[in-house]
Amino acid sequence: MNHKCIIICESIYNDNTLKIAKAMAQKLGCYCITADEALILNLDDHQTIGLGSGIYFGKHHPKLFEVVEKLNSSEQEVFIFSTRGNPFLGKYHQPLNDALVEKNKKIIGEFSVRGYDETGPWVIIGGGHKGKPDEKDLKKAVRFAQKTMPQHCMPDYYLQVQSKLPISEGEPNSYVIGTNGSSLLLKGDRVTFNHSNCNGCGNCVKVCPLGIIQIEGKKAISKRELDCTLCQLCVVNCKQRAITLHYNWRDAIKVAQRHGKRTSLY
Ligand SMILES: Cc1cc2nc3c(=O)[nH]c(=O)nc-3n(C[C@H](O)[C@H](O)[C@H](O)COP(=O)(O)O)c2cc1C
Repeated sequence: MNHKCIIICESIYNDNTLKIAKAMAQKLGCYCITADEALILNLDDHQTIGLGSGIYFGKHHPKLFEVVEKLNSSEQEVFIFSTRGNPFLGKYHQPLNDALVEKNKKIIGEFSVRGYDETGPWVIIGGGHKGKPDEKDLKKAVRFAQKTMPQHCMPDYYLQVQSKLPISEGEPNSYVIGTNGSSLLLKGDRVTFNHSNCNGCGNCVKVCPLGIIQIEGKKAISKRELDCTLCQLCVVNCKQRAITLHYNWRDAIKVAQRHGKRTSLY
């Protein structure tokens, strides 16, 4: 887990902004928390803070302003993000921007995309920007995080695998990747464990709601990675930043199909 960075998100309408926040948090390997949670935390230890919400009546959620109010004057970098109904961002970020400048915070970047909106005039046509933010928007959010905060981003070595094997039930596929003269071992395709980083602490085993992770030879693996619901709990709770998830929209649909008839966790 990357403790240098934290994302604070208020997403009260359709979870539109939460989707963006989670995509960024996954890339940065950091926690994504609500403003209420942030208000009881000491945020001084975090070098970089992300603040995001939907746009409600022309600005960010009021609780984010409470969080900014609570920040002390230590040197911290902040990035701002939002989802909105209006096709144009305009000056929606300005109030939060101003509040941060007043607190002497350095704003390192801003990100905004459209989110599904059924308020005001959109109601006439049954809602605007259906399906937004979509997969492309999430990729844009990840690229934003990568470009703005390369120092915090978790390298995804699985992307370097040249020829990937089909995923099946049981023993996960293994890949050896060469990086700067050394090599590292990756296990799994949907849920990939970097065995060079994993210390077998078992945090991922404890948090996985479906119990699909196990420790074998002091390293974590999943022999049921096709059952993964992509909830991200293992990723955000891995202090070693050893887990990455890989999926596209087809995989997400397959997850729903796979668990379609399920009525309880156990
Ligand atoms: C009460 C309310 C007020 C809103 N005001 C605006 C607005 O002023 N400008 C805008 O572009 N979108 C506005 N929207 C649309 C939201 O910004 C948009 O749907 C956003 O994606 C919601 O994010 P969330 O699902 O994370 O809460 C408003 C939505 C609600 C519910």
